[in-house]
Amino acid sequence: MIDAKHVHETLRRYQLTDGYPFVLDLERSHGSWLHDAATGEEYLDFFTCFASWPVGYNHPAMLEPEFRSELDLVARHKPASSDLYTRQMAEFVQAFATRVTPEGFPHHFWISGGALAVENALKIAFDWKAHKIGIENSDDGNALVILHFRQAFHGRSGYTLSLTNTVPDKIALFPKFDWPRVHNPAIVFDQDGGIANDIEAEEARACAEIEAALAKYPNRVAAILLEPMQGEGGDNHFRPEFLHKLREYADQNEALLIWDEVQTGFFGSGKAWLWQYSGARPDVVAFGKKSQVCGCYAGPRVDEVPDNVFVRSSRINSTWGGNLVDMVRSHKFIDIILGEKLDENIAARGEELIAGLRGLAREKGGLSNVRGVGSLVAFTLESPAARDAMLKRLQERKILALASGEQAIRFRMPLVVTSEEIATALERIEEALPVNA
Ligand SMILES: Cc1ncc(COP(=O)(O)O)c(C=O)c1O
Repeated sequence: MIDAKHVHETLRRYQLTDGYPFVLDLERSHGSWLHDAATGEEYLDFFTCFASWPVGYNHPAMLEPEFRSELDLVARHKPASSDLYTRQMAEFVQAFATRVTPEGFPHHFWISGGALAVENALKIAFDWKAHKIGIENSDDGNALVILHFRQAFHGRSGYTLSLTNTVPDKIALFPKFDWPRVHNPAIVFDQDGGIANDIEAEEARACAEIEAALAKYPNRVAAILLEPMQGEGGDNHFRPEFLHKLREYADQNEALLIWDEVQTGFFGSGKAWLWQYSGARPDVVAFGKKSQVCGCYAGPRVDEVPDNVFVRSSRINSTWGGNLVDMVRSHKFIDIILGEKLDENIAARGEELIAGLRGLAREKGGLSNVRGVGSLVAFTLESPAARDAMLKRLQERKILALASGEQAIRFRMPLVVTSEEIATALERIEEALPVNA
């Protein structure tokens, strides 16, 4: 057995090892606390594996013998769930479709990985649009495009590389499609949570660019794609008015409206889906991370093409069709989150953190644009250097957070976080502020 103290050095011999300096102890980590197997120190986990770990470590319900034996059974197998079905899969799909997917979205598709969830959402749209404009029997699909936004992050797979445009290193040098990219009219929040920028001017600029793109690619835009809150691009929030406007553009131009909720979905916002706050209904939602199993759900507009990808065999598929262990774990998470009302918990805890951060912004300064909902909370520092330095100080004070955009810090809290832990977080954040550096 490799000693925890030798984990990094062992890995370093064979691969890039530029991650965290500590070692995750899977047995001793608990709730919101990540235990370092090498030193025994504990970190308040506001990173949650890039927003993918919803109910903390070793939740008591995950340790129940019945669940453990179910998990053990599926972990000893890996069926091709795309074509070979199990009781466990049917129970998961039913739980997800009836308790997580909102009413009115009859179609589901499962796959591993968020980028591939988005990628398949695009394929749903390409196939749909090709049928709509009558190019289904030709290779003219190359003419189809996806309208997307600046500062978007949709993943690093083939198609999604053409859409992601945050850190240049993530996309540079790889061949990409030249698809229309438009302004993202993000809200800047004042210290009381009001809107501090001229958001109507921002939105007007975005709309002008969207209209120009629609004119440049007449009847060729298969989908309009947006994260309803851009995570890696800077925790950029949009007004409901703008999201509804995108719905209108999609309807008027026979394009599908796709929300990428890989980072925001599965209860992270306090609702199952962030889009439910605005009510701007999409045609397709791509999800991943907290849901464990990634994929898409889609609404009735897809059925305007009778032979769509949810009807016709093998248009979209993969060997494992998701992962059965993830399905069993995801099902358990659904039971835990809804059974313990963790959606309500995180909505309330998010408000506490935001209120505390706004207090710090007023009293101490150095941070601004405090924003967020539920587990997804962020603020902006005065410069990229100030942000990087504060992230380091947070880690020294044993609280884990993530960079966001050029100069913001984002927290991604576990849904089980308590008021006491929010208070602890605020103390540590205050200590790590630039004014206290
Ligand atoms: C909004 C969004 N879409 C897609 C992805 C890609 O997911 P994955 O890294 O699982 O491929 C991410 C990952 O951070 C994301 O935040």
